[in-house]
Amino acid sequence: MDVIRVLLVEDNPGDARLIREMLSEVREVTFDVQRADRLSASLERLAEGGIDVVLLDLSLPDSQGLETFARVYAQAPEVPVVLLTGLDDADLAVRAVREGAQDYLVKGQLDSGLLARAIRYAIERHRAQVERLLRARRVRAGKVLGFMGAKGGVGTTTVALNVAMALAQQKKSVIAVELRSCWGTFAPQLGHTPAENLRSLLDLDPRRINEKELNTRLVNWASGLHVLFGPQKVEEFMAISDDQAEAIIKALAGMADVTIVDLPGYPCEASRAAIQLCDRLALVVEPEAVSVASGRLTLELLEAWGVGGGVVGLVVVNRAMLAMPLTTIQSQLGCEIIGVVPPAMEACIAAQKRGVPLLLHQPEHLAAVSLTEIANKLVAD
Ligand SMILES: Nc1ncnc2c1ncn2[C@@H]1O[C@H](COP(=O)(O)OP(=O)(O)OP(=O)(O)O)[C@@H](O)[C@H]1O
Ligand SMILES: [Mg+2]
Repeated sequence: MDVIRVLLVEDNPGDARLIREMLSEVREVTFDVQRADRLSASLERLAEGGIDVVLLDLSLPDSQGLETFARVYAQAPEVPVVLLTGLDDADLAVRAVREGAQDYLVKGQLDSGLLARAIRYAIERHRAQVERLLRARRVRAGKVLGFMGAKGGVGTTTVALNVAMALAQQKKSVIAVELRSCWGTFAPQLGHTPAENLRSLLDLDPRRINEKELNTRLVNWASGLHVLFGPQKVEEFMAISDDQAEAIIKALAGMADVTIVDLPGYPCEASRAAIQLCDRLALVVEPEAVSVASGRLTLELLEAWGVGGGVVGLVVVNRAMLAMPLTTIQSQLGCEIIGVVPPAMEACIAAQKRGVPLLLHQPEHLAAVSLTEIANKLVAD
């Protein structure tokens, strides 16, 4: 986040000026500070949205004490609040923190570094808490595993379909969905031309995307493995909105033990919405500089999307006997490596010819073994 939009709720002009000055001294980020000098004005401003953090003085002309915090929190629970207190109301601040405020800072003991750090930590902590809460509230049976390439063509779909197959072989009910706006490679990789696919769902109001609608479009590909294919024809090309993506993944997640989401190798709104619902996201990279550089940007974007570090892991697919060491990849991307898939070009081509995942074509191949291990890791808690 390069610009942090701060709502400073402070009636004392001297204190407000001091805080503005401190924030303007910070070099790493820019703080865009807007001020409200009354609780009422702050609530109005929050209702308009676009605030990243509130700096809140509890004693205002139109509200005092915990009530001030409670009103702000009720208005915008998604926005983190850092309290500004005097020495004498630190007890009150501690109580407010118990009720959901992110932190408190004692006026007169502040400097710009401390203030900036408190604001940034508050934003990060709050985001993680909100995400955990949303996750816990989601009522559904199964896990959602996302697969996204650092860029196109790195082997993402191959990994996704083999993980799906491995889990189906373990007697889990699995749905694999190709969440993309144009033809992907589920059809050739699974040797199947579906009569129905995801495209016709996009004509529905997202609120009508439910189990019944999905069932008519799912293909029972193998025991335990159902597949929702992406669009197949040129005239079926259509962007997927975030609402549609969310509705599709939520409904699928209620229908299977594991939902495998194959995402395109470029970011889009549909992927962003789907990823918010993923328990784990495998970012697929090849062990070479261009792919790793794309991976770094993708990870940065995921962070900006609020996807926590615990969710994302790397799957390294070494399609062409490349030699970049794993330690280099790890140090450049700073992310857990879930697994490495060794070169399997001939086996992949032969599997594709047969229209089956590598895992079925040649289960003893080292790549198949590592894909099974990756599947196991992704569903382990
Ligand atoms: N371990 C491997 N060794 C050699 N070739 C592989 C390996 N894994 C996948 N491939 C091959 O790489 C090619 C691209 O794979 P795949 O379609 O899975 O990539 P993708 O990232 O999903 O591509 P797209 O961006 O088009 O969706 C395919 O021909 C596939 O058979
Ligand atoms: Mg693909």
